[in-house]
Amino acid sequence: MSNSSLSPLPATDRPDVAARLRDALIGAGFTADGLLDLLGAPAYAALARSETVPALRATRGDTPLEALVRLFLLQQPVAHARVADALPVDACLESGWLVRAAPDAGDDLAATVDVRPYGGPGGEDWFIVSDLGCAVGGARGIGSHGEGVVLGVGGASTTLAGITVRNPVASVLDLGTGSGIQTLHATRHATRVTATDVNPRALHITALTLALSGAPAADLREGSLFEPVRGETYDLIVSNPPFVISPGARLTYRDGGMGGDDLCRALVQQAGERLNEGGFAQFLANWQHVEGEDWPDRLRSWVPRGCDAWIVQREVQDVTQYAELWLRDAGDHRADPAEYQARYDAWLDEFEARKVRAVGFGWITLRRTGAAEPSITVEEWPHPVEQPLGDTVRAHFERLDYLREHDDAALLAGHFRLVEEIVQEQVGLPGAEDPEHVVLRQNRGMRRATKVDTIGAGFAGVCDGSLSAGRILDAIAQLVGEDPVLLRDRTPAQIRLLVEQGFLEPAG
Ligand SMILES: C[S@@+](CC[C@H](N)C(=O)[O-])C[C@H]1O[C@@H](n2cnc3c(N)ncnc32)[C@H](O)[C@@H]1O
Repeated sequence: MSNSSLSPLPATDRPDVAARLRDALIGAGFTADGLLDLLGAPAYAALARSETVPALRATRGDTPLEALVRLFLLQQPVAHARVADALPVDACLESGWLVRAAPDAGDDLAATVDVRPYGGPGGEDWFIVSDLGCAVGGARGIGSHGEGVVLGVGGASTTLAGITVRNPVASVLDLGTGSGIQTLHATRHATRVTATDVNPRALHITALTLALSGAPAADLREGSLFEPVRGETYDLIVSNPPFVISPGARLTYRDGGMGGDDLCRALVQQAGERLNEGGFAQFLANWQHVEGEDWPDRLRSWVPRGCDAWIVQREVQDVTQYAELWLRDAGDHRADPAEYQARYDAWLDEFEARKVRAVGFGWITLRRTGAAEPSITVEEWPHPVEQPLGDTVRAHFERLDYLREHDDAALLAGHFRLVEEIVQEQVGLPGAEDPEHVVLRQNRGMRRATKVDTIGAGFAGVCDGSLSAGRILDAIAQLVGEDPVLLRDRTPAQIRLLVEQGFLEPAG
């Protein structure tokens, strides 16, 4: 692995220095809120897009906070005396958080890593460590940094952190830890966290992220996929893997080095036997849409035995969009045009050879269950959702259990409640007496919308948990003059769908 252009990292055996540095950073207001106050929303947002000019302009003053932003976020040398105002400078130099800047830079100091404040979900002041200039995934072209470069927090990282089910558990595995963001989240609700990575630099950086965030240390193990945890099982497995489908393994953080979408498939297939009963495995993934193959079937075939699955396709790109996205991510668009063209060609050759027409992006959640009939849902939902979604994911699987345990007769005997913040929309011609169709819409979680008939809408509206579903249908039948037996016969399918999609919840 070529890491030649990467700088030496701070020592991990000086937790005392990490703790002092942490205190100093927080003391100076180097926190997510402090940065927002100092930079203002536009410069703060620009920084999250890897654009540094607005932040450089906002830090021309001489406060300790401005010095820290320049050092740790903008990779600017800062005079020794100014750094000494903000940090335990000798200890930071000794343990490698800081170095003397170039020999011709006087007594200026520079940071060895990027340190980015990151607000934890409980208001914690956390810090994400990553390689210099790599705090944000790919936006400025990461190609020149060497293949073992460790990135900070990107959109994929926060998506996975948001959809993760946060039950208090004994054990979590974060596979492909990178900067350590998923591990950091897991330390809040797990007794034991194991973080693995094929890149030893990532394990080193994860240790720094945890120490600087004041979080408990994790069990760090080097190796590919499940190799470092052979024979062990977990209550929760999370992975934002190197899911990019590419014609070669160039960048460890994104190219899995296996053909096509084989790495994601292997991850999903092997996760089943690494899960404890009732445990969740949650992945971000990319998958191929292959000519002549149904993509949901392809994904269903990945689900290991003994697991329920919920697979959500969030986006689809055709092969040209996909190749361009990752060529830009690597900064290839800035290379010599002939080189760019050759790389683009190689990407399309690879897709052509595999008969790939498009690539899907999405989330895969498995839950290990003893159920004889596993439930596998594969769906497309490209619309905005409300993060964090962890509770929604957990509730999805709880509803599956309920539906599996209740046949139609039991469903009719059941009591249901309309979930909060659901509205009804009626669509039809202006002035028409009856709507063409009725849509129920969630304002929370997945923000689903589903078409129902007037019976379904009426039924949902009455569900407050007091009457059984059957009794409500009998009353509706009387009201609309329909045979109650027929209505009881045909409605359970609609009730099942409304429960499955989270519009109705079993009461009590
Ligand atoms: C996209 S990054 C995700 C980093 C971090 N977990 C996050 O959510 O931001 C993928 C990580 O997987 C690691 N990786 C690549 N190939 C791997 C493999 N075969 N086994 C385990 N980890 C791997 C990379 O080094 C990188 O740190």
